[in-house]
Amino acid sequence: MATERSIVILTGAGVSAESGVDTFRDRNGLWSKVDFRAVATPEGFAADPQRVHAFYNARRRGLAGVEPNAAHLALARLEAAWQGPFLLVTQNIDDLHERAGSERLVHMHGRLAAMLCANCGERRDWRGDMGVETPCPACRSVGFVRPDVVWFGEMPHHMERIYAALNAADLFVSIGTSGAVYPAAQFVQEAGRAGAHTVELNLEPSEGVGDFAEAIHGPAGSVVPRFVEDLIAGGR
Ligand code: APR
Repeated sequence: MATERSIVILTGAGVSAESGVDTFRDRNGLWSKVDFRAVATPEGFAADPQRVHAFYNARRRGLAGVEPNAAHLALARLEAAWQGPFLLVTQNIDDLHERAGSERLVHMHGRLAAMLCANCGERRDWRGDMGVETPCPACRSVGFVRPDVVWFGEMPHHMERIYAALNAADLFVSIGTSGAVYPAAQFVQEAGRAGAHTVELNLEPSEGVGDFAEAIHGPAGSVVPRFVEDLIAGGR
């Protein structure tokens, strides 16, 4: 495909798996170890904020111990080489795409290394722990600081920009996601309806594999670099 055409890429936890970041629904995935309703819903946070803070504090501390893998680096190379419109939409809350050099990137489920104040709406980068006693750095209120992540039942971020990109896409590539969570799981239909060629790159067939025009299965660390090199070389 000529590199001035428009591309949208969606990533999920599978793109970070080879960096050592837990996925959610694989065997031994996060949701097999902890009930998502207790730690990834507004109700869970209201019921036991300290437990939710501890869950995200541990994952935020874990960011220091992981590195971008070959898939993250290949996607940053693709963005640099791509002359046309390019948008990388990630469901992940880790910072591995940024650390690999991706810039035209949106975190539709928020970011682990960021805080949100439920009192004044302030959002800031945040690398350390947070808790119920953490004062908001903007309004100084206590008890309103939370991880800037999108919980089940909350509205994902950047949806207008994402749908605009999907409707203008010539190519939609979904990488490392189970297709179990909406609205991300229906992006492939949105892009397909707009005439995009749709490709799934995943370790194994996802729930939505039937919606894709093409699927390549295998570990992202080897499948994604090969796919990207073909794309840049004009082989696709
Ligand atoms: N390479 C490629 N794909 C992989 C790899 C790998 N090394 N390892 C696992 N996968 C695939 C799995 O086969 C699975 O299809 O990645 C997918 C991970 O699926 P999930 O664990 O469901 O993660 P994800 O799709 O990102 O979840 C979506 O659910 O809990 C919410 O907010 C959370 O953003 C998350 C959303």
